[in-house]
Amino acid sequence: MSPAARALIAPFEAMEAFREASELKAQGKDIIHLSVGQPGRTVPTAVLESVASAMKNDALGYTDSKGIPALRQRIALQYRTRYGVEVPVERVFVTVGSSGATFMTLLTAFDPGARVALARPAYPAYPNMLQATNLETVFLDTDESTGFQPRVSHLEALPTPPDGLIIASPSNPAGTVLPPEELRAIAQWCKAHGTKLISDEIYHGVTYGDAVAQTALAFSDEAFVVNSFSKYYLLPGWRLGWAVVPERFCRSFESLVQSFFISPPAVSQVAALHVFDHLDTLDAAVAQYAVNRDILMTTLREVGMRGLRHAEGAFYLYANVSGLTNDSRDFCRRLLHEAGVCAVPGLDFDAERGHQYVRFSYAGEQAEIEEACGRIRGWLGTS
Ligand SMILES: Cc1ncc(COP(=O)(O)O)c(C=O)c1O
Repeated sequence: MSPAARALIAPFEAMEAFREASELKAQGKDIIHLSVGQPGRTVPTAVLESVASAMKNDALGYTDSKGIPALRQRIALQYRTRYGVEVPVERVFVTVGSSGATFMTLLTAFDPGARVALARPAYPAYPNMLQATNLETVFLDTDESTGFQPRVSHLEALPTPPDGLIIASPSNPAGTVLPPEELRAIAQWCKAHGTKLISDEIYHGVTYGDAVAQTALAFSDEAFVVNSFSKYYLLPGWRLGWAVVPERFCRSFESLVQSFFISPPAVSQVAALHVFDHLDTLDAAVAQYAVNRDILMTTLREVGMRGLRHAEGAFYLYANVSGLTNDSRDFCRRLLHEAGVCAVPGLDFDAERGHQYVRFSYAGEQAEIEEACGRIRGWLGTS
């Protein structure tokens, strides 16, 4: 890809909206962020104390490129306890966020020009990363009937099987979960058609009610799984995630990581290791998201937004605003400037139909969500 072509990669609207809102806030405006997917809560003080102690007592130099063994073992153990799946520790790589894990996966798994499918609306970094790594994006247009998740039928409808498929469950922007039997069917289809499956499981742990987010590893040893400490584990700014890599790709994944990153950040690995001692606190944050979700969903429905019924995980609502506007970017701009609420136009996730959608994040504190709901109601004249 030429530098000029790379310059054409679309900006990330969620981050741009976040920046604009932060600038308004710095000017003294009263802004509520329902834009970025960042947990409102921080990790328990005990985790920070462990980090402070490591900073005093350890050199915190480079670590093994795959991450510190104790953390990799703890991640492998999590697969046994949470999903009943055995994952050999040799296949676990600690990475620079799940972003780093996805980037390394794309470079490891595909030759330039390979075709990689993903559901649209999509987390925008995927098509952008595919473009930057000279891979072709094949969009699978999904709708509210499947909660914007792909089905085998979407894959069957392609003229030829793609080289790869990226799935995300729970998803961003819709917060929907692929039922385990659908995930199994997709994993089996991928195996049968030589399609490499990449399962983004960054929102695992953040599910509500009866929703079950199963790992793709339960159905395939050939899947690449990427995950993160940014969401459920409350450590977004520490830039740490992980990948579980199929055995035959481990050596090349490792070599790439050595050259691109040397190692994941040592100090963040200390935090990540200790956060596993506080799963109760993490689960309490999820319980709060569930309350926030219900408050926000009620308001968005009342003001005339639609398409919210499937949101069972992550901390987003992808609202159909076509009853209110046909221009989600203008809608979000006015919502920010006139009501002080920052949300993200759906165009970030779907250049074709995103003008009819807005993504709201409810990862903040309940009081903020309530205040935002009051403002949305007042702004739309429904209070
Ligand atoms: C679906 C999805 N995947 C990956 C990421 C990247 O997260 P990180 O690099 O912080 O792990 C995000 C961030 O919001 C996301 O929503």
